[in-house]
Amino acid sequence: MIELRSLRKEYAGEVPLEDVNAVINDGDIISVIGPSGVGKSTLLRCINMLERPTSGQIIVNGEDITASGCDLKKVRRKMGMVFQSFNLFGHLSVIENIMLPQIDLLHKSRQDAYDEGMRLLKEVGLTDKAYNYPDEISGGQKQRVAIARTLALDPDVILLDEPTSALDPTMVGEVLAVIRKLARMGKTMMIVTHEMNFARAIANRVFYLDEGGIYEEGTPEEIFEHPKKEKTRRFIRKLKALELEIMDRAFDFPGAQSEIEEFCNRNRISHRMTNHISLVFEEAVWHLLVPEMERPDIKVEIEYSEEKEAVTFTVLYGGEYYDLTQSEDRLSMSVIKSAAGDIVYEKLTEGTRKNKVKMNILP
Ligand SMILES: Nc1ncnc2c1ncn2[C@@H]1O[C@H](COP(=O)(O)OP(=O)(O)O)[C@@H](O)[C@H]1O
Ligand SMILES: [Mg+2]
Repeated sequence: MIELRSLRKEYAGEVPLEDVNAVINDGDIISVIGPSGVGKSTLLRCINMLERPTSGQIIVNGEDITASGCDLKKVRRKMGMVFQSFNLFGHLSVIENIMLPQIDLLHKSRQDAYDEGMRLLKEVGLTDKAYNYPDEISGGQKQRVAIARTLALDPDVILLDEPTSALDPTMVGEVLAVIRKLARMGKTMMIVTHEMNFARAIANRVFYLDEGGIYEEGTPEEIFEHPKKEKTRRFIRKLKALELEIMDRAFDFPGAQSEIEEFCNRNRISHRMTNHISLVFEEAVWHLLVPEMERPDIKVEIEYSEEKEAVTFTVLYGGEYYDLTQSEDRLSMSVIKSAAGDIVYEKLTEGTRKNKVKMNILP
């Protein structure tokens, strides 16, 4: 069990952590979420004393590890850390990377360290990369090696700081699969991640960090479905709504389509609806509006409601009053009508964009 008592961390001119209090039970899997810069990494680094808290206490199984004279090497053996950037030694092979901390910190023989290293490489599916060097393997493989290296010390607690953020999307899955395996082994874990589906599925508790502390905590259901406090609500709402602004004819259209796809994946929106959203975006924005506007001034809001399993698609655009649904482009309009219903045009009197078209994407 780890207890954080009035934990505070100050940097010159900045106090990311003002007052953090929490009890982390054995076997807990905690997802830590929150806007960037709120102190998620700082919290993880403080918990295993890579960073000394300015004040407060961290009690691990009854022992105050912030007390002077505490054996920090012992603390770090019990608390493994996995970083976004892997931190492997480039001049050592994969197996040597995993052997080194066992020899240094656990004083194992080379043979024992090797045997354990090979066993762990098997766990993470990389037996055949044992003699490769880090720059000969992919990012996802590097992160799996880094996880195996952490496991080699048999820690009670594993802290993971955005373990998939530096990876190509194609490699995220293989790393998440290995982390899920750790969870099933019953390791206590704290994970900072932007993979919200994952954060939700793997954890039994979620900490939302803001305003210098744990602003709200709850079960994944509570935090992702029924957040109670204002800032949590806003953060969660943003995850469920995508906003795109098109202010230029040279707008990155394929880039926007891939943002839409990513948004749909994140919210587990069906393929059919995803396809409908892409079609509406392409026809309404790309074929109907952009060619009409010398200087495009368009904002698209795509919002997903899990409760209703519904997606609303809203387009706001500048210029004179113009109802795009009255367009003479029959083809575009018929495509839109095959993908969306309840299409309503509205003249706005407030704000800079005077036109609004809202519709419900068809299931
Ligand atoms: N070593 C440091 N020195 C000074 N300021 C730091 C240091 N590390 C982090 N910070 C600041 O503390 C705040 C929290 O940082 P961080 O914990 O990295 O946030 P997060 O991981 O939530 O994005 C940021 O404003 C950051 O600039
Ligand atoms: Mg961080």
